[in-house]
Amino acid sequence: MNNIPMHVSLIMDGNGRWAKERGMDRFYGHIEGVESVRACVEAAALAGVKYLSVYAFSEENWNRPQEEVASLMGLMVKAMAAEMDRLDSNGVRFMVIGNRDRLDAELNSVIDSCMERTASNSGLTLIVFLSYSGKWDILQAAKKMVSEALASGDSAESILSMPLEGFDSYLSTAGIPDPDLIIRTSGESRLSNYLLWQGAYSELLFVDTLWPDFRKDEFNSALEEYAKRDRRYGKVK
Ligand code: FPP
Repeated sequence: MNNIPMHVSLIMDGNGRWAKERGMDRFYGHIEGVESVRACVEAAALAGVKYLSVYAFSEENWNRPQEEVASLMGLMVKAMAAEMDRLDSNGVRFMVIGNRDRLDAELNSVIDSCMERTASNSGLTLIVFLSYSGKWDILQAAKKMVSEALASGDSAESILSMPLEGFDSYLSTAGIPDPDLIIRTSGESRLSNYLLWQGAYSELLFVDTLWPDFRKDEFNSALEEYAKRDRRYGKVK
């Protein structure tokens, strides 16, 4: 396949509806959703995608019923622990990005060990955005940039004249290429506070498939759709 995106990002939506359609508890939708993550990781690696990211939990998701939040967090711990051997032996580098201060100690410790163990792998990079929001990211980047400048004694004038270039290095995604393609499942057509800065020139693809049904064929169809897009970055070709 030609024109393979370097970074594909997935807004996994529709787990609850998938479960409801089957008369099951929402949680089963999340469990099946983990299978879709696994399928997409395999399809992405096979296609030559270098970065695959998934929006697993937004800052806003903390407002869901406490029971659902707790079961989702438990599922993350289980899924990460269960998948780690396989990810590592396939050369996948695993990362979690987001406001980790809000995660509990058990989850943070699993994340740390998975990230440390796979840090030097050179295959696909799998990024899980957890407790993440685009506005949070931009704000923390601005604060970091200003506090570094203040610490090095920069004047207000020089802080106010800081250029756009280099701002990326303060974002939580520093060093990771911006997503070429952002896919959202389940028929919703919005970004929901995801990668607001990094997605400035991403191609967006909204598909009706519910996340638990988004597997290899759906991923490969999305790559085919991306290959047809004409990216101009605001310029004339
Ligand atoms: C959106 O569906 C899905 C989520 C908020 C959770 C997604 C998380 C996973 C699939 C777990 C991934 C785990 C790892 C380790 C990557 P929804 O609940 O908003 O569905 P609805 O819109 O139909 O209610």
